[in-house]
Amino acid sequence: MRVNLPVLATAFALILAACSTEELPPEERIVAPILTSEEAVDEFTFARPQEARVTHVALDLALDFTAKNLSGTATLDILAAPEASEIVLDSNGLQVASVTDGDGAPLAFAMGEKVEGKGEPLTIQLGAGETKADKLVITYTSAPDAEALQWLDPAQTAGGQHPYVFSQGQSINNRTWIPTQDSPGIRQTWEARITAPAPLDVVMSGIIRGEAEELEDGQRAFEFTMENPVAPYLIAIAAGNIDFAELGPRSGVWAEPETLEAAKAELVDTEAMIDAAAGLYGDYRWGRYDMIVLPPSFPYGGMENPVMTFLTPTFIAGDRSLTGLVAHELAHSWSGNLVTYASWRDGWLNEGVTSYIENRISEVVFGETRAAQERSLSFGEVENALETVGMDAPGSVLRTPAGTDPMGIESGIMYDKGALFLHTLESIIGREKFDPWLRSWFDGHAFEPATSEMFLADLRENLIKDDAALEESLMLDEWVYGTGLPANAARPDPAAFAAVDAAASAYAADKTLDAAAWGTWSTAERMRFLRTLPDALSGTELAALDSTLGLSSTGNNELRFLWLEAALRNRYEPAVPQAEEFLGRVGRNKFVAPLFEALMGEGEWGRAHARRIYAATRGGYHAYTRGNVDELLGI
Ligand code: BES
Ligand code: ZN
Repeated sequence: MRVNLPVLATAFALILAACSTEELPPEERIVAPILTSEEAVDEFTFARPQEARVTHVALDLALDFTAKNLSGTATLDILAAPEASEIVLDSNGLQVASVTDGDGAPLAFAMGEKVEGKGEPLTIQLGAGETKADKLVITYTSAPDAEALQWLDPAQTAGGQHPYVFSQGQSINNRTWIPTQDSPGIRQTWEARITAPAPLDVVMSGIIRGEAEELEDGQRAFEFTMENPVAPYLIAIAAGNIDFAELGPRSGVWAEPETLEAAKAELVDTEAMIDAAAGLYGDYRWGRYDMIVLPPSFPYGGMENPVMTFLTPTFIAGDRSLTGLVAHELAHSWSGNLVTYASWRDGWLNEGVTSYIENRISEVVFGETRAAQERSLSFGEVENALETVGMDAPGSVLRTPAGTDPMGIESGIMYDKGALFLHTLESIIGREKFDPWLRSWFDGHAFEPATSEMFLADLRENLIKDDAALEESLMLDEWVYGTGLPANAARPDPAAFAAVDAAASAYAADKTLDAAAWGTWSTAERMRFLRTLPDALSGTELAALDSTLGLSSTGNNELRFLWLEAALRNRYEPAVPQAEEFLGRVGRNKFVAPLFEALMGEGEWGRAHARRIYAATRGGYHAYTRGNVDELLGI
């Protein structure tokens, strides 16, 4: 392993962090490098970081639940090249009242024209000479419809008494509430002071500093700090009537009191997961690992915000069968948060590598059987994705073409083909060499941006070396830059689903159902069975499936979703009220969008139901889910 100065600096910083609750003085903060290669260019930022870049963000903001905005100041530390006279930040709908330097002297600024999907550049004049600014104080307010923020009425929470807000930065939403350079390759340390009305608690993706401070008029102030430079999409906030439960010495969970016990019970494997990941890929470098279980309108399964993973409550099944989600978000503490893609074009480098690590954690914590089943499900997703986008289509390439919308990448490619690439490397190279190499990749690039090209170069330089036969057998370039599925792909062991696949064939042949066998199956096996049901099913067959397997009464949301999708695709009227209830309660895009899509594919019958249901549920959805369903319904 090569000696790496930033790693040493980081170790030093972590020791310092452990000794104090105060923010590090600027001269001791770590400044992450900026990559200058062509591969690292991010087309979705207005920033020109080689000229002038943000290194640290200090937020001082008030949460206003009535106006649905955040307002206050962002104080940015910047590094500018000697010849640079201005800095360009990203904004999207921010109302900027003033910009000053660190001494309060006003600086000229201009908001540029809005570019669809990107927001607007905020250009600030730095001055020159002795008085050239290296600190900016921006006074601003976010818009009530800021895409990063979902403001929930009390009725949308479990408790029903208090409002709630949470943010979702990825991919390029944080520019709707933070005026900074919103690009994953421009890492920044940050700190924040946030005020909110009591009794609401505030959490962020940083370490909480001290106790909440009681202010006048019922407000309280919370302080946070993140001393590791992070990609700015990882700055996150949530506030609501939430409580905390400890899970282990470095982990815990926040949730509304109504959900906290169930959340805590579902998450008992967290410490074991951290140990498993750290055992494979090196120390967990972030201090704490806490999670918050959000209200059900959270549009994703989870979001890997550092030290504070955000989770959907829909993963709570009562039997810990859907906690692969937690393994996944935790795995991002290495792949994604420690080493981060410099541009959205390398999505697989975060999500594919993370999905691979998720599986390795599953294997340690839950055993090889569950891990093999999850690999097999994932392979099925690769096959589905390749069928959807087309074997030869650019959409099947891991390193996506320039101009690809970071939110529009097929997950079966970015996640599942990406993970399959690493499983293939592992199976050809062998764990005894591959595991230490992957660990050294994280160590060597800790808290730095990376690209596909760097990943391959590191693999060649430190593992393949001059082994030409190995190089040829890995097919690296084909995996990363090629379409379809390379011939050396590590196919899943058919034994993983032998029993369930036999049962699925029997069902397809003569509709035989074995309720006793179903009773013994894992969630992954049940998902496999439901995913391999015949496309066309009659009402009688669906009724038998439901009554024999108890599908409409399952508390497992993945199974409930698969059941509803199959039922709606066959115009099964008795499932409509169930779908309506589910769609009114859950806003997770992965469930909501496909169910509306299923209805929209069923002629006027389905379209009428979709329109009626959506009229009632749309207001409760997050902007991301709403945008997708609007498109499906042609709104
Ligand atoms: N980082 C993603 C969520 C994300 C991806 C947000 C792209 C915005 C844009 C997160 O780590 C994730 O992958 N979540 C998955 C979890 C699943 C793969 C276990 C999800 O939300 O379904
Ligand atoms: Zn992920």
